[in-house]
Amino acid sequence: MTKVLILNGPNLQRLGTREPEIYGTDTFADLEKSCQEFGKSLGFDIDFRQTDDEATMIKWLHEAADNKIPVVINPAAFTHYSYALRDAAAMHTAPLIEVHISNPMSREDFRHFSVLAGVANGAIAGFGINSYQLALSALKELVK
Ligand code: DQA
Repeated sequence: MTKVLILNGPNLQRLGTREPEIYGTDTFADLEKSCQEFGKSLGFDIDFRQTDDEATMIKWLHEAADNKIPVVINPAAFTHYSYALRDAAAMHTAPLIEVHISNPMSREDFRHFSVLAGVANGAIAGFGINSYQLALSALKELVK
């Protein structure tokens, strides 16, 4: 089994109650379950994490880089301003895919720019929690 880190940034643990008209009504536990099950079907051993803390997220990206672990990351609001996270993501030694539940391009202007996009292998956004499954499928091709 290939280990995969799925990293979630600030406020994502509040899925289900957080702006459901934008993020849907599935909870964070539902999201983890769907990632664990779908990941397993692809032969991935999923390590699913969430933090509101930028330093912790950076540490996890270092851990992934040091151990050549593929990453699916929803940086949440960090997407739009954290150059420190971008620098950490830039060190990736295995594929790294950016994922979003909503489509930031169809929302407020400040969400139109991702500081991580330029260092990720690719990005998937706008398909609800299914974005994560699409990212895992894309990852499967990249790690073949
Ligand atoms: C998000 C989009 C970001 O703009 C926002 O700050 C989030 C969630 C998404 O998954 O749609 O927290 O990353």
